Amino acid sequence: MKFAFNTSLLALAGLAFTAVASAIPTTVTVPSGSGYKNYPLGVMTFSGTIGGHAVQLNGTIQEINTQMVANFPDFNMDALVAANLAKREAEAEAATPANLFTRSKSGMLCWPVPSQDWSLCSVSVIGQGITYLDNFNGLCGVGANSCVRISCSYSSAIYLCNDNDYGITPTCPYMGSYAQDIINDCSHCEGPNDCVTCGQEFDSDNYNIIVRDNC
Ligand SMILES: *[C@@H]1O[C@H](CO)[C@@H](O)[C@H](O)[C@H]1NC(C)=O
Repeated sequence: MKFAFNTSLLALAGLAFTAVASAIPTTVTVPSGSGYKNYPLGVMTFSGTIGGHAVQLNGTIQEINTQMVANFPDFNMDALVAANLAKREAEAEAATPANLFTRSKSGMLCWPVPSQDWSLCSVSVIGQGITYLDNFNGLCGVGANSCVRISCSYSSAIYLCNDNDYGITPTCPYMGSYAQDIINDCSHCEGPNDCVTCGQEFDSDNYNIIVRDNC
């Protein structure tokens, strides 16, 4: 946690990084929490509405939730999640089998993912991240050839990695649907409430979602 916070600060404070850089041996690479292609870890940008509030905030969804609570004292993510849960369940029942959201998904890798040291993480913690994402009505941004941490809680992480030479801003709930696919396809359960998961799902638009330990 502390390490990740320092990384974010460095990414945000370019001047500070420049000042420190001369003291760092050149062999040190930029740490990557995702482990994907050794990409640098950026900070996710969010632009959209949460609970009816139009905002532009950066960070993981948990960090953005903290900022929402600070900015809007009446804001309560858990109440928002509960209010929208019934609505989403009704929508899911009404959905046709030909789901539009599956069209651009182009491949799934489940743990153990070749040449990655990723480990399994908690399905229930990732699931809570997905319910948060469902209430982020807007765009989750990641820069060119880099990864961002979308969700990070109890050592269970959702990353968005971008293989394009330009930044992209897919919708946040759609990113949640990838994490849900990984849960659906790549989970192991040792008991009814003791399930773990890890995997990576790709999109034909050259980005991917990783669910893993370590955030
Ligand atoms: C979020 O990041 C964007 C892009 O780096 C920046 O323009 C914006 O000012 C940031 N917003 C906040 C609230 O920090």
